[in-house]
Amino acid sequence: MLKYVLYVLMAAVVIGVAAGGIHLWKVAARNQKEMAQYAKAPQTPARPLGKVLVVYYSLSGNTRDIAARIQKQTGAALYEIKPEQALKPGIRLYYDVWKQVREKQYPQPGGTLPDFSEYDLIIVGSPVWMYTVATPVMGFLQRADFAGRPVAVFTTQGSNPGTFFADFKNNARNAKIVSEIEFNNLPPKYDTALDNKIAAWLRRL
Ligand SMILES: Cc1cc2nc3c(=O)[nH]c(=O)nc-3n(C[C@H](O)[C@H](O)[C@H](O)COP(=O)(O)O)c2cc1C
Repeated sequence: MLKYVLYVLMAAVVIGVAAGGIHLWKVAARNQKEMAQYAKAPQTPARPLGKVLVVYYSLSGNTRDIAARIQKQTGAALYEIKPEQALKPGIRLYYDVWKQVREKQYPQPGGTLPDFSEYDLIIVGSPVWMYTVATPVMGFLQRADFAGRPVAVFTTQGSNPGTFFADFKNNARNAKIVSEIEFNNLPPKYDTALDNKIAAWLRRL
């Protein structure tokens, strides 16, 4: 009997590893196809975007990296969302985030929020957590009032934003959402293409 239980367990592990490998391979192929179109820098001239603010939250650095690239191309001011109690990476985080999402109890940002009415364009960046907006960004949205300003939104993610954009829209008070874009996490070989993708996006705003 024990022998059969072990066979079933081993089969489950093999199927799990194979499914994970196939998923990663599909994501890598999708990234390669998408980034190939950004191999060359956009030719259309940049439009002045006025006074830009980039608001972002980042736990492991990916969203901070995109925010910094946008800042470099636009000269925008940066505002990092820092929860009063910092979240720590690790397995426990997944349980905490699951609970926060279920109970709609989000980490609250410390300090004062920027005065959004001072800006012509606000760009908000967030990681995707559990197929939705990262909970510290949800905490930020609970306090923020965008005062009718244009807001462009970007995600960073493994591969699946789930209901991120609809959830962001439903919780961003008085935001005029003008654009949404996804950034899958990419290896460094796509750095130039990534800057070109950002440039093309900024030109469309
Ligand atoms: C708690 C948690 C949940 C996540 N859920 C998703 C998800 O649902 N979909 C996805 O594509 N990536 C998911 N990810 C991956 C992150 O969105 C991705 O790595 C992101 O770029 C992290 O941003 P950061 O480095 O700025 O913190 C999750 C990561 C964490 C820590």
